[in-house]
Amino acid sequence: MKIAWGITGAGHLLLESVEIVENLSREHEVTVLLSGAGEEVLKMYGLYNRVESITGGYYRELVLEKDQKFSYPLAGRFSLGRYDLLVVSPTTSNTIAKVVSGIADNLITNAIAQAGKGKIPTLIVPVDLEAGDVQTVLPSKLELELCQHCSTCHAAAACPQDAITPGVEINLLKCQGCGACQMACPFGAISGGKKIFIRMREIDISNTKKLAGLEDVDVVETPEQLLKIISSF
Ligand SMILES: Cc1cc2nc3c(=O)[nH]c(=O)nc-3n(C[C@H](O)[C@H](O)[C@H](O)COP(=O)(O)O)c2cc1C
Repeated sequence: MKIAWGITGAGHLLLESVEIVENLSREHEVTVLLSGAGEEVLKMYGLYNRVESITGGYYRELVLEKDQKFSYPLAGRFSLGRYDLLVVSPTTSNTIAKVVSGIADNLITNAIAQAGKGKIPTLIVPVDLEAGDVQTVLPSKLELELCQHCSTCHAAAACPQDAITPGVEINLLKCQGCGACQMACPFGAISGGKKIFIRMREIDISNTKKLAGLEDVDVVETPEQLLKIISSF
């Protein structure tokens, strides 16, 4: 099958999504599409290289928002029905809000809109499903209460991206999620993969419900469920 897989800028369900797309790329031709935030967030969580390594070749491209300009020519593949399936996982509240409002202004929202026009089935895994608190995972973070403000910051010295301002913060736009800082700090002041709870907003839950009502779009609750659904196509 020819599958297009979109990744938006969500840390939630990101690792799980990358594992499934890796798995699918062994059997199918998979084109990976990243929103601008998707590219940044993949790097922050140290997952960009994994996605890059499964791509390469015709219909196996890694397509970046920044390479598509304003008219998203790649989305023509969707209106022409060239893919058997479009999957977007994980899908941010932002992308869902745009899709349910009929907005197509970036790579992923254009792919979804044109897939609808080209009658390509679309599976979307939203990050906001049910009201309440949901556990999610953070990228590398400088824990200020543990920082000893050493005269030489070993974490900053170990960072190949020069992303750490000692005693202040990690610049996540520079961070590539390699984890070298976590290993280098003798006081454990850099966390990686810390789990926190965040509250789902009513408006985002309501948008996810609207999404399920769109023609040719199916909402899937977890990336793991995608494998079973895709194998039945
Ligand atoms: C580390 C990090 C993690 C994020 N995780 C989420 C998330 O789980 N869900 C979400 O809706 N937005 C999340 N965001 C915010 C989105 O990246 C932001 O809303 C972005 O504008 C979404 O753009 P996109 O929908 O085009 O990908 C996160 C941002 C950062 C920096």
